[in-house]
Amino acid sequence: MATITQATSAVPLTKNQHLLRWVEKMAELTQPANIHWVDGSQEENDQLCQEMVASGTLTRLNEKLWPGCYLARSDKSDVARVEDRTFICSLSKDSAGPTNNWENPYEMRKKLRGLFRNSMNGRTMYVLPFSMGPVGAAVSQIGVQLTDSPYVVVNMRIMSRIGLPVFKEIDKDYKRVVPCLHSVGMPLAPGQKDVPWPCNPEKYIVHFPETREIWSYGSGYGGNALVGKKCFALRIASNMARDEGWMAEHMLIVGVEDPDGQKTYVAAAFPSACGKTNFAMMVPPEEFKGWKITTVGDDIAWITPDEQGRLRAINPEAGFFGVAPGTSVKTNPNAMATLSRNTIFTNVALTPEGGVWWEGMTDQPPAECIDWQGNRWTPEIAKKTGAKAAHPNARFTAPAKQCPTIDPDWEAPTGVPISAIIFGGRRAHTTPLIYQAFNWSSGVYAGATMGSETTAAAAGEVGKVRRDPMAMLPFCGYHMGDYFRHWIKMQRSLSMTPRIFHVNWFRKGENGEFLWPGFRDNFRVLKWIVDRVHGRTRTKETPIGWTPFYEDMDLRGLDFPRETFEELQQVDRAAWKREVIDHEELFILLHAHLPPELVYERELLICRL
Ligand code: OXD
Ligand code: MN
Repeated sequence: MATITQATSAVPLTKNQHLLRWVEKMAELTQPANIHWVDGSQEENDQLCQEMVASGTLTRLNEKLWPGCYLARSDKSDVARVEDRTFICSLSKDSAGPTNNWENPYEMRKKLRGLFRNSMNGRTMYVLPFSMGPVGAAVSQIGVQLTDSPYVVVNMRIMSRIGLPVFKEIDKDYKRVVPCLHSVGMPLAPGQKDVPWPCNPEKYIVHFPETREIWSYGSGYGGNALVGKKCFALRIASNMARDEGWMAEHMLIVGVEDPDGQKTYVAAAFPSACGKTNFAMMVPPEEFKGWKITTVGDDIAWITPDEQGRLRAINPEAGFFGVAPGTSVKTNPNAMATLSRNTIFTNVALTPEGGVWWEGMTDQPPAECIDWQGNRWTPEIAKKTGAKAAHPNARFTAPAKQCPTIDPDWEAPTGVPISAIIFGGRRAHTTPLIYQAFNWSSGVYAGATMGSETTAAAAGEVGKVRRDPMAMLPFCGYHMGDYFRHWIKMQRSLSMTPRIFHVNWFRKGENGEFLWPGFRDNFRVLKWIVDRVHGRTRTKETPIGWTPFYEDMDLRGLDFPRETFEELQQVDRAAWKREVIDHEELFILLHAHLPPELVYERELLICRL
């Protein structure tokens, strides 16, 4: 049994016998040197950060320039989510479906018990209770993560609600707790010196959907290790949502306020690193005086039908784990303000003044800095070797409440009403800037067949088009075909279905140039969407859906000729016929579980083409 030190943090902070017994059992398995019950206080956080500065895991940034901020550099093998090491271990392989990695749960448990045995030797096991969603709200869910990574504790403190208030909730009702065991998988022998970023080349990110458990081994990075995010709020929660009649989605949530103060909330699903954070914090172009975008969330939405049959969404997270490269005062001033204090940066560059820098942060790079791997970096070196100062998937972990555009209702326990859902991918060709689906099931079809070019958010090849249904391919915790059925079925609980749209900011012209300026000009598209929701604008019918007339797009202040707009909006029938054949690939893969409505939608689309 592990030694439990007499520090105050070693005193259990719950009376819940189930939890106490589970912690004891897991400590017996992993054999940590100490157990630390996380109270979530500022003092505790400061202490952990200080210890990590001393051990070399964190660097404290210049307090005057970046108050309360730290930099972490990961091991160079541990920089992104590892989809090929992520498993959904449902009782039957068929329940996980062909888009998830599956292993027999009995075999997987055996393997995991082997890996976790003594895995925390020489380290502290933190007992970290967290609430996804405001503590105590009916739609919130609770987890307890046992982790041997203090970096995970301080990041989870930003990304979720943790500590004493959550233990209090657990003491009221244990059944709701999702047990999450996490180890970086690098036990320390007595006297062995630690490394700044411990991890293991062998990684397992495992979900047991029936028992609602998460076991994560070998990685300390992002979605692999901050288990509240993708593991819980999407993979496990998507199972809960299907069973209980709600939706756990990879979506941002924004409010659009018009000059008369009318607020319309919209949720949008874009694949990883396709601009969700930028969209969630958008500043409308100067010409749109009186219009305001407010931010509810930038990554995950839990959406529930209310008693009136309207969908309401909460953001289960409390922070942003955003991609740093490309973020600047020009592209996202609100993100820059959010991350200006109390932020943990991972894998960005360190400047000589004790600040941070990443590609795209300023037009002029610093004359020199220390890159994400700890090496000297200059623009000259970059030119010669191609070395990046920041890793392309470098991140900031910043508190949502610091965002200047945070919505006044972002923590409302019943969420905000959703009037429109947007799907979008990164497509150089074929897909127009914007179209509206004809109805709910054609909208579900548009989401289900979404394609996007891969990005650096996940390990693997970048820039390849893959089908990423509802941006959930790596995050759906069960069979994708059943997930589509769930979407179709949701309509039955709704009296007011949100309108569904599809966008593509990334279409290119003949010479490879982007046709649409993107960023804050995306507001113009959002405004058209809001106008459609309120029945204020006309549409043109195309085989794939309804599209705007050039005259109805609010392009004031933008020199955007009709021809470019037509090119951007073009629905090329030949290209779409090829596209529909591509859709078939996914449908064949999922065929036994596909809802008949989607097969029918595909037939209709073919007929219209
Ligand atoms: C994320 C992702 O980190 O989608 O949000 O990869
Ligand atoms: Mn995401």
